[in-house]
Amino acid sequence: MKRTGSVAEVRQQVKEWKKQGLTVGLVPTMGYLHEGHKSLIDRAVKENDRVVVSIFVNPIQFAPNEDLESYPRDIEKDTELCTNAGASLIFNPTPEEMYPNGFSTNVVMNNLTKELCGKTRPTHFGGVCTVVSKLFNIVAPDRAYFGEKDAQQLAIIKRMVADLNFDIEIKGCPIVREADGLAKSSRNTYLSAEERQAALVLSKSIALGKKMVEDGERNAQTVIDAMKKCISAEPLAKIDYVSVVDALSITPIDEYKGYVLTAIAVYIGKTRLIDNFIVDIDTL
Ligand code: PAJ
Repeated sequence: MKRTGSVAEVRQQVKEWKKQGLTVGLVPTMGYLHEGHKSLIDRAVKENDRVVVSIFVNPIQFAPNEDLESYPRDIEKDTELCTNAGASLIFNPTPEEMYPNGFSTNVVMNNLTKELCGKTRPTHFGGVCTVVSKLFNIVAPDRAYFGEKDAQQLAIIKRMVADLNFDIEIKGCPIVREADGLAKSSRNTYLSAEERQAALVLSKSIALGKKMVEDGERNAQTVIDAMKKCISAEPLAKIDYVSVVDALSITPIDEYKGYVLTAIAVYIGKTRLIDNFIVDIDTL
């Protein structure tokens, strides 16, 4: 497996593969890879002849008060994981390679970004859309893989691909969890032992909300209230949001109807964690 930070080298390699008639899958990441990322790579390896994993802690999706500097990095361990999973190429550019002097274009998404994480992180999804567009143009994959862990991000990428006519199939992959339920995240590494235990309140409230809906509850506020009560019982937890939205348009809804995303963001100490569940009420 090859690793490069050069846009030109990635382009050259993908061109060669395409000349041979091979299909290409892309898994965009910020590194410090875990089983969640690996599930995306595994699926990409199954569905494509060659797989590119991008590892880039994208500065423009972090606000000045966020964790850009402290975001965990381990390129050697990531390379080992990608090699073992059967990826063909790691693209790990420097910020200068992605955003050279004079860079002045951004992809702006007008809708889908106002609720959930967009409320507390108003500049975040612009940064995500811009970097993902660049990765799509650099790699030109047939398919790209994203986790349902970041359900709003997945909805936004699907919308962007439709709006901007990217000829790329977007594949959503289920949330991978620790044995005790906590959704895997590179940011879990910030948690102390006590916080790690407290963080279980996220998956606990998600399981509670999901069960209520599966048992027939259709009033969004009733589910939100129960989930908030569950989270508030944990002294180390501070709720950012508990929201019920249409899973495609990311607009709030009062009733569980159609394809529904229930999403939460909770601070455990200083660490902000997210989790969610998606239900299709029509096939429940
Ligand atoms: P990152 O947080 O590294 O996540 C990369 C991909 O892995 C995302 O699509 C995310 O949803 C998925 N992922 C993370 N944890 C997961 C889990 N527990 N189960 C399943 N999938 C999981 O998301 C980003 O990076 C960035 O915003 C990026 C898209 C790379 C743009 O910079």
